[in-house]
Amino acid sequence: MKPKVFITRKIPESGIALLREYCQVRVYPRDRVAPREELVKGVKWCHALLCLLTDSIDRELISAGPTLRVIANYAVGFDNIDIKAATERNIPVTNTPEVLTDAVAEHTFALMMAIARRIPESDRFTRAGKYQGWEPMLLLGTELKGKTLGIIGPGRIGAGVAQRAATGMGMNILYFDVTRNLQFEKMYNAKFAKIDDILTKADFITIHVPLLPTTRHLIGAEQLQMMKPTAYLINTSRGPVIDEKALVKTLKKRGIAGAALDVYEFEPKLSAGLKRLDNVVLTPHTASGTYETRAAMSELAARNILDVLRGKTPQNLVNKEVEDFISKEPLLDSSGLGAET
Ligand code: GLV
Ligand code: GLV
Repeated sequence: MKPKVFITRKIPESGIALLREYCQVRVYPRDRVAPREELVKGVKWCHALLCLLTDSIDRELISAGPTLRVIANYAVGFDNIDIKAATERNIPVTNTPEVLTDAVAEHTFALMMAIARRIPESDRFTRAGKYQGWEPMLLLGTELKGKTLGIIGPGRIGAGVAQRAATGMGMNILYFDVTRNLQFEKMYNAKFAKIDDILTKADFITIHVPLLPTTRHLIGAEQLQMMKPTAYLINTSRGPVIDEKALVKTLKKRGIAGAALDVYEFEPKLSAGLKRLDNVVLTPHTASGTYETRAAMSELAARNILDVLRGKTPQNLVNKEVEDFISKEPLLDSSGLGAET
């Protein structure tokens, strides 16, 4: 009997094909977020769950799966999964870091340039037939060169942004992390700063922290108040890190120059008033959305599952506490043929 893998929505084929070589694979057939009862059905049936950041993998769902052996998230962030509940059942949880670092760093840069040079606003202006000829003061923007970029969370993605900013754009870098990162400082000539200093000094602030109880509303009314009126805020991490209502209020009164967002506090819903503002650029959580990266994420999630089913520690184990349990009673032998059970 082959191990059973439930995939909650169609993802690029390459990873699915890898899984089909060794497993029985079911993909939720509609191209939409699987309803709760379909998730429950899938989890009751499967040994491995390949899920998306739009699926809420909570304690109740995890306990509905008596045969569940691994939860592989198709994302780097895993705030959609109750890690504690999975760990209590010795179920390894995996994510897809690294393969999406360049895509997200590039998107962060695209957002930064789009808001600074008012690209979507200029596009709307031109399409609307408002362009009457070259003007000295038409749609002026801000240059990146020589400006200070504040990076909150210099992990892999933050470092990818720093590299582009420092070597490509000639920006000065301030960063905040829970501990100092000397290698990061040296590589990008970055200076460690407290969040308050970043808020008061930076011309651009970009956020690359995971969503945790401690990072929820990390940027609220008080923090927005500290930012320069000429500064821009970029977010490609998780929406709830910013108090979106406070952000809309700040943008409305031009307390900061603008914001470029890929993620939203209540996504897919936008806070009231956000989409009517001209000084925002909004993308629909597509920062990792390149053909290359989404295929690589598919393969990585599949390999993480196959590793666990073979009793091997997967490349991207989130809950290291369960590592010792992975080698017990594998469902596949390491050559990929089904183990006798
Ligand atoms: C996307 O937001 C991810 O976490 O991969
Ligand atoms: C995670 O957020 C990363 O930096 O890859």
